[in-house]
Amino acid sequence: MKEQLINDVKENYLKNFGIEPLLVFSPGRINIIGEHTDYNEGFVFPAAVDKGIAAAIQKSESGYSSAHALDMDGHIEFELDKLKPQAEGSWENYVLGVVAEIQNRNKVVGNFNIVFKGDIPSGAGMSSSAALENSVVFGLNELFGLNLTKEEMILISQKAEHNYVGVKCGIMDQYASMFGKKDHALLLDCRTVQSKPYEINFKDHQLMLINTNVKHSLSDSAYNDRRSACESIAQLLGVKALRDATVIDLETVKDKVTPENYQKALYVIQENNRAIMASKALEDNDLETLGSLIYGSHEGLSKQYKVSCDELDFLVEQAKLNKSVLGARMMGGGFGGCTINLVEKTKARAFADVVSKAYEKEFDKACSVYFIELSEGTHIVK
Ligand code: GLA
Repeated sequence: MKEQLINDVKENYLKNFGIEPLLVFSPGRINIIGEHTDYNEGFVFPAAVDKGIAAAIQKSESGYSSAHALDMDGHIEFELDKLKPQAEGSWENYVLGVVAEIQNRNKVVGNFNIVFKGDIPSGAGMSSSAALENSVVFGLNELFGLNLTKEEMILISQKAEHNYVGVKCGIMDQYASMFGKKDHALLLDCRTVQSKPYEINFKDHQLMLINTNVKHSLSDSAYNDRRSACESIAQLLGVKALRDATVIDLETVKDKVTPENYQKALYVIQENNRAIMASKALEDNDLETLGSLIYGSHEGLSKQYKVSCDELDFLVEQAKLNKSVLGARMMGGGFGGCTINLVEKTKARAFADVVSKAYEKEFDKACSVYFIELSEGTHIVK
């Protein structure tokens, strides 16, 4: 599929501009555990996957720049000195935001044309947005010799999302997409932005994603609201971020916060601990424990942090009914997208079939099942 995407953008580029483009592939990500902990400076456990965005990019002599979203058949032309955010929810903001953030760092980019295409369904919770942002910044860095490090590039991608897209995201998605390592997941400390790779080889188990194929509206504002609730509780506790707080600390301010916000902060502290415990479980090859931490994560996301939805909860309940599944939970920001499932290899297909039928019956629409491979981060394709 990756090869197909690369061929498609290359061919389209050649057809439209007649010169060889630079080719970039930037992956989406999964996250084993550690959800909504990144902007609390805690731990996350993501991995880049073999689905992502392919981009063909080259300098332009035309006096303006253009971006073409091949799979959405969207096209924009823009002038580099007149950048401004476009309508909320439009893909243009990911491209323009990255260019604007590069300029904010006093780096000069010239005109360019970019054609891109991806195979991560949007709203799947697999970070198609970070993949796109990273492909743009990576391509421009190479084309215009900007000398940006990967660390700087992911901060540019993240800022594009804050200032152009309007989502005050953490660093997990951009990091995982940029730094992904084949067959590994990365235990990332979002305070130091340093990670430890863990080889993922579950022997007779594997990871499998099930996409609800829903994305509920208002998820962006709900995301930002949660982030500011966490930050205000951290401030109340006198710590830099919730990462620094314990459950006992939180008790001391219980009567100063709403019960809803208390539960949210409690969730973050517990989820951060779960992410660390999950890394220990992996070191010990203890998949049962890993699985129950994953189920615990979903419980917290659904009941305490309140970012799940009926479709996601249903998929996790289905997993719990099936003995071949050790753990399942919603993945990413929430309110739709995928669940991640830790399932016995030989039973995975059968589980997928059972769930798909049950889902269709319950919601009168189809879910999608993805078997993924853990892959390299953003890179140039030769
Ligand atoms: C989105 C954000 C990430 C992270 C997750 C939740 O994917 O972009 O920064 O906060 O939600 O874990």
